[in-house]
Amino acid sequence: MDAITSREELDAWRIKYLGKKSAILAILKGLGSLPVEERKVAGAGANSLKNELEALLKEKEASLAGGQAGQDKAPGAVDITLPGKPVDLGHIHPITQVLYELGEIFTSMGFEVVEGPEVEWDYYNFEALNIPKEHPARDSMQTFWVDAPPAEDGREMLLRTHTSPMQIRVMEKQKPPLRIVVPGRVFRYEATDATHLHMFHQIEGLAIDKGITMADLKGSLYEFSRRFFGPDRRVRFRCDFFPFVEPGVEMAVECAVCHGSGCRLCSQSGWIEILGAGMVHPRVLEAGGIDPEEYSGFAFGMGIERIPLLRYGIDDIRLFYSNDLRFLRQF
Ligand code: DAH
Repeated sequence: MDAITSREELDAWRIKYLGKKSAILAILKGLGSLPVEERKVAGAGANSLKNELEALLKEKEASLAGGQAGQDKAPGAVDITLPGKPVDLGHIHPITQVLYELGEIFTSMGFEVVEGPEVEWDYYNFEALNIPKEHPARDSMQTFWVDAPPAEDGREMLLRTHTSPMQIRVMEKQKPPLRIVVPGRVFRYEATDATHLHMFHQIEGLAIDKGITMADLKGSLYEFSRRFFGPDRRVRFRCDFFPFVEPGVEMAVECAVCHGSGCRLCSQSGWIEILGAGMVHPRVLEAGGIDPEEYSGFAFGMGIERIPLLRYGIDDIRLFYSNDLRFLRQF
């Protein structure tokens, strides 16, 4: 048995000692012709020998199989005894995490999450939002124009500079009452530095119904702030101008670092501006096919990158998009 080194040799051994023509089988077959007393003794002996031979066979089979995996491994075969390679687990990008969190807060308040195109018509991005060509407000939004021939009606294509165009797209399709939030990417033709990116994220909000007032706007945004920043952070509204709202406001929250006394993060003001908002301008409602005599609404738009910046005290916005795992793994 020790001399056997291959399956073929072992097969030959099995046929010889345990096969149909083997001596042991002949003995077992012949038992019937023996007298009872002798049959007992011979039977017991033959059976125990057979068991022993079978055990030897099994042992040799196992050792041959093990030896094969280790020594003469076929090309491409896998050695299942080697330890596995650890798999790197990824996780959701910090900006996406904030977007999900905001989505959850607003859906629980009855808003629906919708998304829109990043390549947009000039009409939706500007014109329908009460920003006609030559309007000075266009200067504040440096735009990437898409080098495509204008549509038949003269509309030109661009990368959207804000998520506000979805206000019009939704009004065109849905009748009030409506409450939506629009998270998404926006683009501005701007040089990149520690506080500016040419691509960033916003979330837009829009609520339209009969009898919506500034109180609804403030109530909804206060509630958002309580849920997102905590119940102790004070919130401030001040007048601001955006062509698509009247009146327009900006909302600021108390600085997380100095709690209002003034520090470097908040430029000594004690407040950090986080969003623009207002009552939807009647012209915008009209552009969306909604009668401003019957309905009113509020809208808001918030930059996303600033939020984790403020939450975690990050001093360079470019870190979010430089794909440095030492940074991203911290969230
Ligand atoms: N779209 C504006 C921006 O990108 C933000 C904004 C301000 C959105 C006021 C609104 C709003 O919906 O009512 O700067």
